[in-house]
Amino acid sequence: MCGIVALTGHPDAVEKVLTGLSRLEYRGYDSAGIAAQDAAGHITVRKAVGKLQALRDTLADTPLDHSNIEHSTIRTTIGHTRWATHGTPTTANAHPHQGRLGGPQVTVVHNGIIENYKHLREQLEAQGATFHSATDTEVIPFILSQQLVTHTPLEAIRHAAHTFHGNYAIAALVEGMPDTVLATRKGAPLCLGLGEGWYAVASDPLALAGLTTRFIFLEDGDCALLTPTAFTLHNGEGQPVTRPVQVLDLDDDLSGKQGFRHFMLKEIHEQPAVVAKLIETYTTPDGTLALPFNLSNVTGINIVACGTASYAGAIGKYLLEEHVGVPVNVDIASEFRYRNPPLAEGGLFIAVSQSGETADTLAALEHAKAHGQTCLVLTNAPNSSMARAAHHVLPLLAGREIAVASTKAFTAMVLAFTLLALELGTDAPAPHLAELRKLPQLLNNQLAALKPIKNLADTVTDAHSMLFLGRGVLAPLAYEGALKMKEISYIHAEGYASGEMKHGPIALVDATLPVVNLATGADGLFEKTLSNLREVEARHGRVILITDTAGAAQLDDATKRGLTLITVPDAPKLLTPILFTLPLQLLAYFTATAKGTDVDQPRNLAKSVTVE
Ligand code: M6R
Repeated sequence: MCGIVALTGHPDAVEKVLTGLSRLEYRGYDSAGIAAQDAAGHITVRKAVGKLQALRDTLADTPLDHSNIEHSTIRTTIGHTRWATHGTPTTANAHPHQGRLGGPQVTVVHNGIIENYKHLREQLEAQGATFHSATDTEVIPFILSQQLVTHTPLEAIRHAAHTFHGNYAIAALVEGMPDTVLATRKGAPLCLGLGEGWYAVASDPLALAGLTTRFIFLEDGDCALLTPTAFTLHNGEGQPVTRPVQVLDLDDDLSGKQGFRHFMLKEIHEQPAVVAKLIETYTTPDGTLALPFNLSNVTGINIVACGTASYAGAIGKYLLEEHVGVPVNVDIASEFRYRNPPLAEGGLFIAVSQSGETADTLAALEHAKAHGQTCLVLTNAPNSSMARAAHHVLPLLAGREIAVASTKAFTAMVLAFTLLALELGTDAPAPHLAELRKLPQLLNNQLAALKPIKNLADTVTDAHSMLFLGRGVLAPLAYEGALKMKEISYIHAEGYASGEMKHGPIALVDATLPVVNLATGADGLFEKTLSNLREVEARHGRVILITDTAGAAQLDDATKRGLTLITVPDAPKLLTPILFTLPLQLLAYFTATAKGTDVDQPRNLAKSVTVE
């Protein structure tokens, strides 16, 4: 989603901000812009629709030093990548936005949503402000300009922020205040990057990788004023505060498709290594678990997440209920946060999030924490807002996931739930861990035999719709298979528990509908799956069966002839969800590449959804 990068005091501020924005590109955006300030405090803005290259082209066509600005004196720049929420992706709606009302002209970039912007805009228009965009953001510079008339810059941004409802991270430049960046946040993440002779602001420390390793994460309500030589930090009450400096060793290398055509394919292939790393880190060679926290007397669990993470959570429910024997609820975060569900004293709340920044999941976590729950987060971003808010963190150790469609983080989530179920359960973990250790090799074997899935993908590219069905722990995996397919191939797809098919979805079945069934031959329910397949066949639907060798062995020749069969290796029950994941990811990937979609940055999607 939107990204903010700002620098003050850096001799190469424009280029460094553009590079910082490119580090956030993978999150998804539809326009970009920068504002540069010269030594006299003059500010010039450049914006463009589309990828960052379009902004670079605009800068080449209309260089900053052709306007009222001396390029050589630019040491202060704010930049933004925008993912449209209010107003279509146009140059006018791209950030930065500028406004002046009573005070100096203010230039801002903003992540999040100002929910009361309509009301504020009406008020500002009545006072003489003229708006040039359809965005919620544009109210910010006018209000900050007004506040600067009677307040110091830090007080002005604090007072301005108090008028906003919603979530925001803001960086601002003020005309006539050279080499000064103002910043504040609530709900949306923002950190300071500490340099030598310069300071930076970014919505994600990753934007500053290669520039600094020292960061300060702002807390809700914090306001910052940065110059090249100092920064001042106030909390939401206007009191000076200090926040801890965190040293992060960020991976500077963004090149890395490592010979793969897409990041998604690379990340699919990284899964054996991710699984091996998780097992190695969180278990001991003598067969015990080594999770980085102690949880005891768990009587009930709420799992909350969005999208793919919620399906990992739903698989977690099956694993936890079976091994721990306590009731487990799974909720979509956007529903949980407003439903006010009863939360039993001492309950365990588990947030699941690759990014650790998803707005709804973060809000749900804060709600649970405020209601006395012990909060654990399973996240791939151990420095994220969720990691800081939770009592306990289980890092997913999957390495940075660039493709918008989550693959290796999902697998890491499912494995993390498996380890958690063994940790909280009463079974001796050693035999289970011995089984889990076979996973990397089994996944590698699967990756060595991609041909049948690629062939299958070539046959579904014309489908307008697909069904994904599964039973037990494979039901939520069917939902995930459908999500992956629609995210990157744009084929409409629905996931259902197999038993639900007769209750409605069967009406969709005709000769054009591929129906992907997930079934293991080892759970005693394979006969029921076969009945489901026959029901589809009888209506001329296209049956695709993903099963293990034990399942395949239960098919007679006639049945085999009527369907497309993809087999996964026979394996202990605990390994089933992960082994069935790989064919679904690959089917979506090969379908998307056959259709020629933008696999790594599919249309309309953002990697980290930091607004509701
Ligand atoms: O960062 P999170 O795991 O909290 O993100 C949640 C969802 O937005 C995410 O899983 C989304 O569904 C992905 N695009 C899935 O591929």
